[in-house]
Amino acid sequence: MSSKSPRDPLLSQIDQSKLPVHIAIIMDGNGRWAKKRHFGRIRGHREGVQAIRNVIKLCVKLAIPYLTLFAFSSENWNRPSEEVNALWNLLSEFLKKEMALLKKNHIRLNAIGRLQHIPDHAKQKIDWAMKETCSHTGLFFTLALNYGARDEIVDAVNQLLQISGSQPISVTEKMIRDHLYTRNMPDPDLLIRTSGEKRLSNFLLWQLSYSELVFTETLWPDFKDTDLAHAIIEYQKRHRRYGRV
Ligand code: FPP
Repeated sequence: MSSKSPRDPLLSQIDQSKLPVHIAIIMDGNGRWAKKRHFGRIRGHREGVQAIRNVIKLCVKLAIPYLTLFAFSSENWNRPSEEVNALWNLLSEFLKKEMALLKKNHIRLNAIGRLQHIPDHAKQKIDWAMKETCSHTGLFFTLALNYGARDEIVDAVNQLLQISGSQPISVTEKMIRDHLYTRNMPDPDLLIRTSGEKRLSNFLLWQLSYSELVFTETLWPDFKDTDLAHAIIEYQKRHRRYGRV
């Protein structure tokens, strides 16, 4: 795929030599988008799926190697059961419908979170989609599902304790990193959160330590190519210091 469209002046402002390797997104504002239009919240989530498609396509176009989306948090179970069920149904539908898109663009699907607790139909679709795309070498596309960063760190520590058995161990940063759900990917360079909220909400707390954070007022269903382009351009203006001067 071509790396930029000459017809799009905004995309042409993106410096191709300074692209983020890993973009992570907290997709927020589906409910408010729906409320503004007097629709039910589920309609907002449905529109949010279209925004996901657009973002995937632009990441492919720009040859971004990693994209991670916060699709269902460990706290989202507290929503009305109708909404929770609708979210898992949307996920199953999305994976089935978009397999052609994943295959055409050599996208590899990945999922992180306590996947053992998600509804069977969704778990089966995820397993199927991960298997179907496991040899793909294009965009590494991760969905965070029933994900909580604190759960992730607790799971890593428990795995280390299990490995050590009765032997006392001294835990290193690398040992924790190697047992996080994200052990096979680099930390995000850029974190985007939509809808004007400026929180991390228990998303990738370990991995975002040095990421650039971009917050936009745009509600997730309205998030377009231009919003992603603006976030990348903003990221490219930042001076990443990692604690140095
Ligand atoms: C936040 O909006 C969004 C979510 C909790 C879920 C995101 C899910 C989707 C975009 C669709 C389903 C996902 C896939 C992968 C097919 P909110 O409901 O918290 O919005 P609000 O803060 O305005 O109420």
